[in-house]
Amino acid sequence: MSEPEKIEQLRRYREQARLGGGKERIERQHKAGKLTARERIDLLLDPGSFRETDMFVVQRATDFGMDAPERKILGDSVVTGWGTINGRLVFVFSQDFTVFGGSLSEVHAEKVVKIMDMAMKVGAPIIGINDSGGARIQEGVVSLGGYADIFLRNTLASGVVPQISAIMGPCAGGAVYSPALTDFIFMVKGTSHMFITGPEVIKAVTHEQVTFEELGGAMTHNTKSGVSHVAADSEADCMFLIRELLSYLPQNNMEDPPFEPTGDDPLRTDERLDTIVPDDPSKPYDIKDVIRMVVDEGRFFEIHKHFAQNIVVGFARLGGHSVGIVANQPAVLAGVLDIDASVKAARFVRFCDAFNIPIITFVDVPGFLPGVAQEHGGIIRSGAKLLYAYCEATVPKLTVITRKAYGGAYDVMSSKHIRGDLNLAWPSAEIAVMGPEGAVNIIFRRELMESDDPDARRAELVAEYRRRFANPYVAAARGYIDDVIEPHDTRPRLINALEMLRNKRDSNPPKKHGNIPL
Ligand code: HXC
Repeated sequence: MSEPEKIEQLRRYREQARLGGGKERIERQHKAGKLTARERIDLLLDPGSFRETDMFVVQRATDFGMDAPERKILGDSVVTGWGTINGRLVFVFSQDFTVFGGSLSEVHAEKVVKIMDMAMKVGAPIIGINDSGGARIQEGVVSLGGYADIFLRNTLASGVVPQISAIMGPCAGGAVYSPALTDFIFMVKGTSHMFITGPEVIKAVTHEQVTFEELGGAMTHNTKSGVSHVAADSEADCMFLIRELLSYLPQNNMEDPPFEPTGDDPLRTDERLDTIVPDDPSKPYDIKDVIRMVVDEGRFFEIHKHFAQNIVVGFARLGGHSVGIVANQPAVLAGVLDIDASVKAARFVRFCDAFNIPIITFVDVPGFLPGVAQEHGGIIRSGAKLLYAYCEATVPKLTVITRKAYGGAYDVMSSKHIRGDLNLAWPSAEIAVMGPEGAVNIIFRRELMESDDPDARRAELVAEYRRRFANPYVAAARGYIDDVIEPHDTRPRLINALEMLRNKRDSNPPKKHGNIPL
């Protein structure tokens, strides 16, 4: 073969590989409202930046006719490689549903493992695009071994490089555990599903009737299970959102997050904050309004937007620097801490701490949610997760108490005592063991029982309790609050504190690892 012929042959191979399982299956994929593995990569990465690896790899199975030449599809059922997002290096694998349903063969796993190892070596994020029928049935245990090889890498990479999963088709059985081990799971409404056992098996075992969508669709996992962190409207939207998320994150745990210059004045004050907390302590307001008024350009990338909405978490910037925001949401269940809210916030705090992202906590919490279901569901264990996460975090921790900080929830929400670096309160803050009504009913029970007019007496005592405790000054007198600030100053005060803490160093005692109450 002459040199030009050899080059022509290479081109043909490449063209063949790009077609994956063939034109017909690509059409089927499009008809199902889904893009192909390569189209997805093109949407995700900066144009022209993708460098593919292992395009010439073919599967090695011999049983069930798998050794036939037409079943040796170049690249097999996954496309792997690296590229850039906003000019920053990322590694990607994208399962190709047109090749044996994207199922995971021995070589599929090897390709994924190769880029994961490389990403760990060079310290760059890993993005996995999942669209697969699970283990390659013809390969049996070899496929299971391949999954385990990936699970191990997911675990070792956790806290070293950010790992993001996009679910863009089926993701079932043990296969769900690779995304589940990553930091963020994005799902696409209508076309993605995750479950351990499908509707058929469930029907046979428990006699429950459920559709794919109800069982494991995007909104199920974004609202009910909390398995997924972001619900995208379309595949293109999903890729756009992943690109945006990465803009807040460092490449790895040894780096600081990227600085993005902003036209938003660090000294900007916002007078609307002075009246945002209603005079009536039982009236709600939307903490997301507060967040948007404080952060750069009002931009807030919310994580777990639809799950446990009584707490809000997400990324923003202050003075151009990334911060993680955790905020009780008085507009939902009065901002109470329950099992789901505790777990949601704990996971987010740990992510921020692992990746050097300062944590800003807005506190307006009436306490932990009372109830038999919560107690029996393990609110003790789950609340402890959040407490543990805040206690162990060594990144800069800034706290703003906007209104209620009651009981154990006061301690948990990044209090001074658990290494809050700067704890601020608005004049509307109420810091006490419990709310005035509850407190008066307990400590004055006898007196109220004996009173001729218990309601009037109760009102008097509540007012007295409120005067004495429902303010920030008792805590500030002890130094538990560093300063009481005018709400409109919140942004400049936080940016100033972040600057002050730029070189913060703090550490935990040497240990193999702690034992967070899982
Ligand atoms: C090999 C597979 C496959 C698999 C699909 N295909 N899943 N090949 N191993 N696991 C092939 C089909 O034979 C078909 O090939 C092509 O992929 C497309 O599949 P269709 O069924 O035509 O597509 P669709 O109707 O969209 O259905 C998709 C599906 C269904 C829901 C994913 O294929 C399905 O139920 N597959 C099996 C899922 C499963 O049980 N997997 C094993 C789970 S156990 P042709 O040549 O016709 O195009 C598991 C354990 C992991 O994953 C453990 C990790 C620890």
